[in-house]
Amino acid sequence: MISIRNLKKTYPNGFTVMENFNLEIEPGSFTVLVGPSGCGKTTLIRLISGLERVTEGSIWIAGKDVTRHEPGDRGVAVVFQNYALYPHMTVEKNISFGLRNFGRGKDEIKKILAEVLEMVGLTEHAGKKPSALSGGQRQRVALARAISKSPDVFLMDEPLSNLDAPLRAQMRGELARLRQKLGATFVYITHDQAEAMSLGDHIAVMDGGRIMQYGTPEDIYDLPANIFTARFIGDPGMNILPLKDGRYIGFRGQKVGIGRPAGLDGIFIEGAVSSRENLGDAYRYRITAQDGTQFEMRHSERVEVGRHLDMFVKRNDLHAFDERGIRAEVRTPGGAAP
Ligand SMILES: Nc1ncnc2c1ncn2[C@@H]1O[C@H](COP(=O)(O)OP(=O)(O)O)[C@@H](O)[C@H]1O
Ligand SMILES: [Mg+2]
Repeated sequence: MISIRNLKKTYPNGFTVMENFNLEIEPGSFTVLVGPSGCGKTTLIRLISGLERVTEGSIWIAGKDVTRHEPGDRGVAVVFQNYALYPHMTVEKNISFGLRNFGRGKDEIKKILAEVLEMVGLTEHAGKKPSALSGGQRQRVALARAISKSPDVFLMDEPLSNLDAPLRAQMRGELARLRQKLGATFVYITHDQAEAMSLGDHIAVMDGGRIMQYGTPEDIYDLPANIFTARFIGDPGMNILPLKDGRYIGFRGQKVGIGRPAGLDGIFIEGAVSSRENLGDAYRYRITAQDGTQFEMRHSERVEVGRHLDMFVKRNDLHAFDERGIRAEVRTPGGAAP
């Protein structure tokens, strides 16, 4: 659906955000771009939508080279973090405004309006101005405006990050439902790995203008391709401990057991609890191992701070990374381990 080929973007100030950037997005997929602030997510969406010019390379949408096309001719709709509603216009006007520019007839606009208002649950708020709406409702107006253009592709740049946590969770559910209904292709930006894991059927983990890993949420969580992805995805991110030979070993805090089981196929770690956080259904511990390295453990058992612990990680829960931080071996979940 979207094909990004050998893309390079250099801003007028000389800063190159990305180079030799390639990404293929399948029709009907929900791809989440996730990565730390400044890694180039917004730039990428602005390039796909045509709001920003590419320096080198090409962008294809639905089989057409749109690299030189105007934003309005690309079949995409963008939803930004700041929903940019016109404050003096009603909900209805905010949505229909753009449609009139598209040269749609009055009756057609009426029909589309009724449909999209219904879809985002704002029918009874159609006559209100944005100031009379909650944050979630305003974001839904922005969504409705995007939907009304019936694009093939939705580009969303952190559309939920201005909302508080419960509303964000609700809107996540609504987005997932909308997606089922519309069958369009979604490219969705977030810096929140939990949001990426819950919404995406594909995730592109980005850092410094590069894709560190592209795959399903399961791939990325279970088989991180490199240390960056291993640390970035998961709550907490994966523990990475340096080995004496320059390589690294990784394991998730949830996979650390307490005790010294006989005949264990795995590693033993001794250490002391340096801090504890109650998460409700479990505790998050900061552990200082005997050699001074620190890592996190998540466990249902309550342990006092300062206590010395025998811990273990099973071989199957260990991840090996080479000197460059790249996954040392490919394995299927439950398959052969390092
Ligand atoms: N107009 C611009 N001119 C120069 N540098 C920019 C411009 N816009 C963004 N950048 C830089 O490009 C990098 C990527 O920015 P951005 O795409 O906004 O990242 P993200 O959305 O992942 O936080 C950052 O280092 C940012 O400072
Ligand atoms: Mg951004």
